[in-house]
Amino acid sequence: MTTRTTIRCRSTTEAAELIRTGRLVAFPTETVYGLGADATNPDAVAGIFESKGRPTFDPLIVHVADVLSAQELVTSFSETAVQLAAAFWPGPMTLVLPRREIIPDLVTAGLPGVGIRIPDHPLALELLQLAECPIAAPSANPFGGISPTTAQHVLDGLQNRIDGILDGGSCGVGIESTVVSLMTDHPTVLRLGGLPVEAIEDVIGPVEIAVGDPTKDDSAQPAPGMLSRHYAPGTPMQLLQPEQTAVAPQGRRCGLLTYRRFAQDDPAFAPEVSGFEVVEVTGDDSNLRACAANFFQSLRKLDAKQLDLIYAHLYPPHGLGRALNDRLRRAIG
Ligand code: TXA
Ligand code: MG
Repeated sequence: MTTRTTIRCRSTTEAAELIRTGRLVAFPTETVYGLGADATNPDAVAGIFESKGRPTFDPLIVHVADVLSAQELVTSFSETAVQLAAAFWPGPMTLVLPRREIIPDLVTAGLPGVGIRIPDHPLALELLQLAECPIAAPSANPFGGISPTTAQHVLDGLQNRIDGILDGGSCGVGIESTVVSLMTDHPTVLRLGGLPVEAIEDVIGPVEIAVGDPTKDDSAQPAPGMLSRHYAPGTPMQLLQPEQTAVAPQGRRCGLLTYRRFAQDDPAFAPEVSGFEVVEVTGDDSNLRACAANFFQSLRKLDAKQLDLIYAHLYPPHGLGRALNDRLRRAIG
């Protein structure tokens, strides 16, 4: 593992200069922090895999500042791509499109498609403009771990494994982008994420969902890199159905990751909640956006408490609740 000195970038100009010279810089996006490198520089991209401990079969998302820059990386940008880009970029949506040669094999794990998105964050957009290159960036966490939604989370996992960090505060969306493949005639969601499937279907009609079953191993996954165990804390986890009463077993130090129901003030399910050492409430179920924004932060807080077990309530299975449930199922592996 290459040791690097991680500097806190004072400006997007400083961060862009690092990217241009082949270094690794973590930067904020509206979803989670990304670990960026010049997507056209294979050596720099190799550094991302080394720094994260990420297997090279897992492709990286390429970030660009505008639609024109996205079109330059692909051999075709279909009418569906035009519609989706117009509706949701900048935003938490990644489109997989047929790539041009300029994108190195390492970025796409040798696949014919490249995942591209325009992030909806002023610092990310400024960085992309100043760097004058597309930026490949996975979430800025050691492979398989919890995605970072603050600069401190990034440093907790990658200090001295990256060259710089650009601090933009907390990420507003809080979970990763929705990945939509346009490689076949039928648009297919490969990863549920920060843009609800319902919103996509409002624009282009029904889509296929092929996110795989988190309880199966990777060979069964339609999307590369969608490992069954991912986004995972170190503490063992157990899932509860939305209606299920949470009771911690006696003699074990347990935490609960939950949400308020029906916008009531009481912590969820109280007074039934009992025996937990810590309860983290992400929000209420009438505001799944807020739940998503707090989700990884809450999971980290529980993981830091050295508990025996973390119980987590599944969210209502619609909108962002589906993406959150996908993360929860992968967290238990
Ligand atoms: O919100 C996000 O998407 C964040 C921010 C930084 O943009 N990035 C992110 O990247 O979550 P990462 O590497 O943690 O997850 C990328 C996933 C891959 O594991 C894979 O499932 C899918 O996106 N993906 C990327 N490129 C792909 C491709 N060419 N074909 C199919 N799936 C792809
Ligand atoms: Mg990730």
